[in-house]
Amino acid sequence: MALMKILTYPDKFLKTTTKPVENIDGEIKKIINDMSETMYAAPGAGLAATQVGIDKRIIVYDGFPGEEKQTLKVMINPIILESSGTQLSENEGCLSVLDYTADVKRASHVLVEALDRDGNPLKFEAEGYLAIVLQHEIDHLNGILFIDRISSLKRQLYKKRIKKKQNNNG
Ligand code: NI
Repeated sequence: MALMKILTYPDKFLKTTTKPVENIDGEIKKIINDMSETMYAAPGAGLAATQVGIDKRIIVYDGFPGEEKQTLKVMINPIILESSGTQLSENEGCLSVLDYTADVKRASHVLVEALDRDGNPLKFEAEGYLAIVLQHEIDHLNGILFIDRISSLKRQLYKKRIKKKQNNNG
């Protein structure tokens, strides 16, 4: 296993709409192992392939973040079939958006469908925190960051801050 480099905003690859996995072969399994290791090392609650420069629809997340026991979840080609209700995701953050969190309006319930790491179909309803994680990670596979879901004023302020930081670093 190997740690992968996590891309950060404004890296253009983060805007990629990733391609479906057609065959869960050894290469895909290695990507999943490396992504999982990278997520736990970061540490993060979830990681999408887009964030490590891979053009595939794969996400990993931990079902019970913060607990000692790791509960790794893998989703291949996930889609949100239905979403309903609203909830405020407070101080949402992302490994690809440095030094920033914001409140994001999210659906309170989602019905998701995917394949697990062995290619078995998954279909379940999620609510609360898990619904937020799934929306955030599946957004990544469509080239969307949480800062795309906040007010344009807040987003502009963040972009300015990042530009200033880059200029200061030469
Ligand atoms: Ni993220």
